[in-house]
Amino acid sequence: MDAIVQDRPPKFQETKGFQPGPLGTHITVRGLNKSFAGQPLYQDFELNIPKGKITCVFGPNGCGKSTLINMIAGLIPLDSGLVLFDGKTLKQTRIGYVFQNYRDALFPWMKSRSNIAYPLKLAGYDKAAQEARVNELTETFGISFDLDRYPYELSGGQQQLVSIMRALAPHPEVLFLDEPFSALDYEMTLTIRDTLQRIFMNTGLTMVVVSHDLEEAVYLADEILLLTKRPTRVAELVPFETERPRDAQTLASEYFVQTKMRSLEIFQREVRR
Ligand SMILES: Nc1ncnc2c1ncn2[C@@H]1O[C@H](COP(=O)(O)OP(=O)(O)OP(=O)(O)O)[C@@H](O)[C@H]1O
Ligand SMILES: [Mg+2]
Repeated sequence: MDAIVQDRPPKFQETKGFQPGPLGTHITVRGLNKSFAGQPLYQDFELNIPKGKITCVFGPNGCGKSTLINMIAGLIPLDSGLVLFDGKTLKQTRIGYVFQNYRDALFPWMKSRSNIAYPLKLAGYDKAAQEARVNELTETFGISFDLDRYPYELSGGQQQLVSIMRALAPHPEVLFLDEPFSALDYEMTLTIRDTLQRIFMNTGLTMVVVSHDLEEAVYLADEILLLTKRPTRVAELVPFETERPRDAQTLASEYFVQTKMRSLEIFQREVRR
C-alpha cells in the first residue's frame, strides 16, 4: 500500500516551483526544452504519465515521439527541464527500453541467453541468479526456440522477444518501447502484442509505447498520448478504459471504434493545423 501513496514524496514539495502530477502519476516531465540545430522541438513541455498503465504515444511523423521517450529514458540529453519517476531521478529508477530495430539492439557476439542476462550481470546478479531469472522469463514468455543461439540465427520476431526479455530481466519499474512491432510481420505482431499485454497484467509496470499504428495504440493503451506537430505539445490525452485481456472482441467494440475515431480526428486536426 505504501508504494501507492508514495507519488508525492517530500522531495517533490521541496523542489521549488515543482508542480506534481495528479494522484497516480508515475513520470512527471516539467519545463522540458529541446532544440535540434536551433529549431525548437519541445518548448516548456509538460507531461504526466500514469503509474501502472500503458500509455501509447501517437503523433505526426517527426513530431518527436522517439526523442521524447529517449529523453525520459536518459538516452539523449534534455536542453533543460526536469523528469522525475515517483519523485525519483532516473538514476534511482530501474527502466527497460525496447528499440524498434532489434537487429542493432542485441549484442551479436552474445548468445540470446547472455543478451537477456546482460543487464543482470551489470546489476551484480551472480551466475545462478542470472540463470534463474532467464529461466523464469523463458517460462513466462513460453519460449520454445533455443536461447543458446546467436541473435542472427533467430527470426525477427524471436529477436524482438529476446530484446523484450532483456529489457524486462531486471524487473524495471518502467518499460519504454519505441515502435516495437514495426519491423515484424502481422502474425508476430499479434503474438508479441498479446505477450506484452499479459506481462503488463502480471506485473503492473508502467509502459510507454510509441506506435505509428493508431489501431495498435488504442488496443494496447489505457491512455493515448496524442502529440502535435513541432514545436510539440500534448494535443490530447485520450483514455481507453476497458478491461484486459483485450482481444479481437475489443477491436469490434463500439467503445474501441469511437476511441479510435476520436483519436484520428485529433490527429488530423493537428496535422492540418
Ligand atoms: N540528432 C538529431 N539531430 C538533428 N535533428 C534531429 C535529431 N534527432 C531528431 N531530430 C529531428 O527531430 C524531429 C523529431 O525526431 P523524432 O525521431 O523524435 O521523431 P518521431 O516522432 O519519432 O518520428 P517518426 O515518426 O519518424 O518515428 C525530427 O524532425 C528529426 O529530424
Ligand atoms: Mg520515431
